[in-house]
Order: sequence, then structure tokens, then C-alpha cells
Amino acid sequence: MIYITIKEKDYSKYFTPDYKKAKERNKDAIKIINYGLMPTDLKIGKGKKYFIETYGCQMNVHDSQTIAGILEQMGYKLANDYKEADLILLNTCAIRENAEDKVFGHLGYLKRFKLEKPELILGVCGCMSQEENVVFKLLENYPYVDLIFGTHNIHRLPYLLKEAIFSKEMVVEVWSKEGDIVENIPKVRTDKLKAWVNIMYGCDKFCTYCIVPYTRGKERSRRPADILQELEELAAKDYKEVTLLGQNVNAYGKDFSDISYRFKDLMKDIKKIPIPRIRFTTSHPKDFDDGLIEVLATGGNLVEHIHLPVQSGNTKILKLMGRKYTREDYLNLVTKIKKAIPNVAITTDIIVGFPQETDEQFEDTLSLVKEVNFDSSFTFIYSKRDGTPAAKMKDNIPLEIKKERLQRLNTLQAKISKEKNAKLVNKIVEVLVEGKSKKNSNVLTGRTRTNKIVNFVGSENLIGKLVNIVIKEAKSFTLEGEIVND
Ligand code: 5AD
Ligand code: SF4
Repeated sequence: MIYITIKEKDYSKYFTPDYKKAKERNKDAIKIINYGLMPTDLKIGKGKKYFIETYGCQMNVHDSQTIAGILEQMGYKLANDYKEADLILLNTCAIRENAEDKVFGHLGYLKRFKLEKPELILGVCGCMSQEENVVFKLLENYPYVDLIFGTHNIHRLPYLLKEAIFSKEMVVEVWSKEGDIVENIPKVRTDKLKAWVNIMYGCDKFCTYCIVPYTRGKERSRRPADILQELEELAAKDYKEVTLLGQNVNAYGKDFSDISYRFKDLMKDIKKIPIPRIRFTTSHPKDFDDGLIEVLATGGNLVEHIHLPVQSGNTKILKLMGRKYTREDYLNLVTKIKKAIPNVAITTDIIVGFPQETDEQFEDTLSLVKEVNFDSSFTFIYSKRDGTPAAKMKDNIPLEIKKERLQRLNTLQAKISKEKNAKLVNKIVEVLVEGKSKKNSNVLTGRTRTNKIVNFVGSENLIGKLVNIVIKEAKSFTLEGEIVND
């Protein structure tokens, strides 16, 4: 195993990740660090260009905006392509093996740019840099990487970059701490309509298959005033939609010791801010309480779309996954939500082929999908993640069977999505117009409050506006409509 060979070498001078530490969860108060002003000796990016390649979830997209904010403060400007760049950062995802394979493949491809321009700085950050085996693999096999920094080290980037530029050795700084909150880091938001806002970081759920609690640290909530101020600023800039981000937004506020303020309270306060659409992702069914449903049912800018990952429809598999709810708990929750919010769209995440999942247990997932009638699902084949409890379980399902299950699930979901979309034909929906369709420049594209894609013919000046569209045709993944002239 690579870990053994590395241990024989001396990597003690590097700040490499440590799963044991990453797993710790103490009750200490969360430290809030103020990013502050950039010292002049760190403004070393003047005349230089950066390129960030982002993999994975919205959290990473958001982190890349923060990294871009830091780099621009240092004087860097965005490059159009790799060739132009003096700094290339890969903001990586560790959730499944294929996400990691892509990054390693890409690093191989980028080697040529490093050979052509030796002063180019090539860096790896994001969730993969929090993984022990990945960092050692990079140290061993990718010596042309100049910089590795972890998800808890983003605010240290100016110092690390300076070191990487001036030292001849690879700079590695990955803290496996439980995590702090860093406020006031500048952000570069290229989208002027839709924004992501972090409300909390980390995850304490430790689902047995998942690497996130190790790569992102413990659950820690941003202070309400900081979130509300950020949203007020976005409202003043005329943003039309904000998605509140967290690995488990329903646990928001659980870590406050001085105030009793939870996700439902935050949503109540956010409701008063004049941004037309507020979404959130991701929620865990275990923490989804009645108080929250009540607030969401009041509508307004709180849109009727809930992403509620179920992962499996079988109670025994859910137990093995460490999800802490049963099939029945999930179904009861969905019934409650549908009753309170009649037009709600519910979407989900599902893993097939979890270790020891039998055909019958997989059938339970199919039957749950039918029963809930999800609007759409993100479906995945189970991927073993070193360091997680599931990695020690015997994975006795052949890949062919896993692929077949995924195929059956996707076919079922496509059919349900199409049926659900068909119910919207001849109905009027509100669409936030996002831009021109990639396929046809006469066609505009946007989304409903329930996050469904709608295409329609219209003039460019509608981009950024909320318009009423009557639906004419439904497909599995998109809707076609016409502008309602009133
Ligand atoms: N294998 C496959 N899918 C996974 N997910 C998380 N960890 C794994 C894994 N090891 C999926 C879950 C989660 C989504 C973001 O990714 O469905 O909700
Ligand atoms: Fe991973 Fe579970 Fe946390 Fe989601 S709730 S990030 S699946 S551990």
C-alpha cells in the first residue's frame, strides 16, 4: 500500500492530511477569523494571470469564487486559457473515484504547460488535498505540482503562493483540523443573477460511505448577521436568486452556544430580504423538522423545491449507510412536506450498489422512487472511499450489476420526470430567464421556481427578468413554452 512506502520516507516537513485528526469532533467554540486587508508584500500577482479548474459540487464552485477573490486582491487577472496562465489551480472533488481519476488525468495533461513555462505555478486544492493517500501520491508521482493546500487553508493562499513562487520545493499545507470560519474574504461572482451563499461548513453526519466529514471538518454555522448582511448586499446588487449552501443545512445553528437560532429562524429572516428566489441545498431528512416545513410553506421568495437525498429505499441499507432514518421515516416526511406545500418539487440523491445491497433491497429503492414521485434524481454507483467505514465492508456486488441497477433506476426516473413535466402542459409558470439556449440563439432558457429548465422564443432584453411562460411541450429534462402576453 502506498501509505507504507511513504511512511518509510520523511515527509515530516510537510503539513500533510491526517484522517485521525479529521475525524475528531470537540465541543470547543468555533473561531471566527477576519480575513482583513492584504499586506502589500503579498500583492505579487500584478501582471500575472490565473486559471481555476473546478470539479464537484456547488461548495467547490463557491470556494473557487473565494479563491479568485483572493487572487484578484493579489493583483492576478483571469486568464482565458491554460497557455496564458501563470498560475493554474485544480479545485478538486473527492466524492467518488471517477472524480479523482479525472483530476489525475488532467494533471498529466497539464505537465506540458509546466515544461513549456517552468515558472508556471501548478496547484491542487479542494477535497482531494484533504485525503492522505492523494497527497502522498502527488508527492511521489507528480513532482511538478508546486502547491497543495487544503479546504481549511484557503485564507492562507497568499502566503503559500509566495512560498511556492520563491521556493524550489513543493509547498504542502493541509490542516486536518475541525475547522474555523473565515469571514470577509473577497469573492469574484461572475454570474450577476444567481449567487451561492454559504450558511454553514462541514458535516458531522459521518454517513459510512462519505468522505466529506473528513475533508470539510465539523459542522459550523456562520453567524446570522454575517449571512443576512451578505444577502442584503446581493439584494442591493439586484440578484434574483440565492442558493444557501451547506452539507447539511438543517443542522444550521446547532453549534451556537449563546443563541437559540436555527435554520427555520434564518429562513424567516431571509424571507424579508427582497431577493425573488431563495433555495437551499443540501438537507438531511433526519433534521428536517416541522418548524422548517411550516416556514417553507409560507412561500414568497422561499421557493417550492426541496432537495432531500434519500440514498436508498431500504431500511437495512440505510442503517448500513448510517443515515439514521428508515424508509418509513422518509416517506412520512415527504407526505408531510407535500401536504404543507402542495406544488412542491422534491429531488433526491440515490446510491446504487452499496456493499451487500441485494436485488430485493434495490427493488425497494425503485418502489420508493415511484411512491415519492421525485421530480428528478441524481443517481450514483457506490464508490469506495478509503478511510470511511464502508470501505471496510465487503463489496460483493459486481460492477455489471451495479451498472444495470443504475440503468434501471435512471429509466424509471426519466419516465416519472416526463410524466410530472407533462402535468405542466398548458399551465403558466414563472421563469427566471438566464440566457440564450446553447443550441439555438433565438431561444431563451431559464428555470421555474421548482428548478425545471424552460426554453422559449424571446428577445434578449428578457435575460435577467422573471417572465410568465405557458408550457406547450414536456420532455424528461426540459420544458418548451411560450411567453404569456397579458
Ligand atoms: N459513492 C457514491 N456516491 C456517493 N455520494 C457520496 N459519497 C458517495 C460514494 N462514496 C453521493 C451521495 C450524496 C451525493 C452528493 O454524492 O448520494 O448525496
Ligand atoms: Fe456525506 Fe452524509 Fe454528510 Fe451528506 S450528510 S455530506 S452524505 S456524510
